[in-house]
Amino acid sequence: MGKTILDYDTVALDDEDNALVIIDQTKLPERIEILHLHTAEEIWNAIYLLQVRGAPAIGVAAGYGIYLLAKSIDTEDFDEFYEKFCAYKSYLDASRPTAVNLSWALNRMEQTLLRAAKDEGRTVKEIKEILKQESIAIQEEDIAICKAIGEHGLALVKPGDGILTHCNAGKLAASRYGTATAPIYLGQERGYGFHVYADETRPLLQGARLTAFELQSAGVDVTLICDHMSGMIMKQGRVQAVFVGCDRVAANGDTANKIGTSVVATVAKRYGVPFYVCAPTSTIDWETPTGADIVIEERKPEEVTEMWYASRMAPEGVKVFNPAFDVTDADLITGIVTEYGVARYPYTESLAQIRRKMKSDKGE
Ligand code: MRU
Repeated sequence: MGKTILDYDTVALDDEDNALVIIDQTKLPERIEILHLHTAEEIWNAIYLLQVRGAPAIGVAAGYGIYLLAKSIDTEDFDEFYEKFCAYKSYLDASRPTAVNLSWALNRMEQTLLRAAKDEGRTVKEIKEILKQESIAIQEEDIAICKAIGEHGLALVKPGDGILTHCNAGKLAASRYGTATAPIYLGQERGYGFHVYADETRPLLQGARLTAFELQSAGVDVTLICDHMSGMIMKQGRVQAVFVGCDRVAANGDTANKIGTSVVATVAKRYGVPFYVCAPTSTIDWETPTGADIVIEERKPEEVTEMWYASRMAPEGVKVFNPAFDVTDADLITGIVTEYGVARYPYTESLAQIRRKMKSDKGE
């Protein structure tokens, strides 16, 4: 049997070639094209253009990216090395604003660098090797975290359930199991026979192009619907749970995810369907008190007016508003599924409890 999308790593490191290796997600599902990125500009563009996208995958790419750029700095002088490292870090950090995993991974790499230099007195050469190990750890942890989210999520549903998801929080957005798809993939392995509904997710169609593609490749029973059809199928009783991913969870549980997510959550509440956000703790931004403090990315009008159409579908010059994300209010969320368990509303306390578990697990 030929290779499927499931056989490729969404993000990988090719250290010999000094390359960040990604699947170009803008080409899916038409063809699987692998890109080898070498320069800061190539990495920045890949994130900005959504060739690599999805909060955890962006974090993994940023970890490998900053390691490779640090490796390319040609000096043994620590101050010069650190100054150039920080310039690369700020540059990559500006590629997209909403997914916190980007700055989370870059800050984690910087902290690793500073620990190695200041506490352990390592040379620049040694620091580069330590950064490599840290970037690999970010990806390995992501695989384990997604699996743990899958186990906690699977306990919330039963065999034969209908599950709705929005955007792509799957293998293509993270490692192996994805986040919102982790309960689905685990259920698939265990014969749960879920019926999955994938919102197409206008305007960039991550649901149609990516979620439907990867779930179908895995043999999951997946049905594609237009975004505004979710109300009808929930009313008909075809959906027993909604699982979505997230780009940033504020400390009070307000959650930024792909535009349209808050509509799904509102409709789910109306029809009594539990709405779960799957969130690795790397996506929880403890420093951001509420959703009002989350910066929402705005993208080009062409994504709405002409992309995907054979010819332009809106009048020339029409005003367009194209936010890439929206914020779902915490009280619409039935549970936030993390690798440390499921937090419940009100989230300020339950997420703080998750944070304590995380810290004690890491020995902090
Ligand atoms: O613009 P995108 O495609 O990067 O948006 C992705 C999402 O909104 C995902 O749901 C989110 O990043 C979670 S991925 C596990």
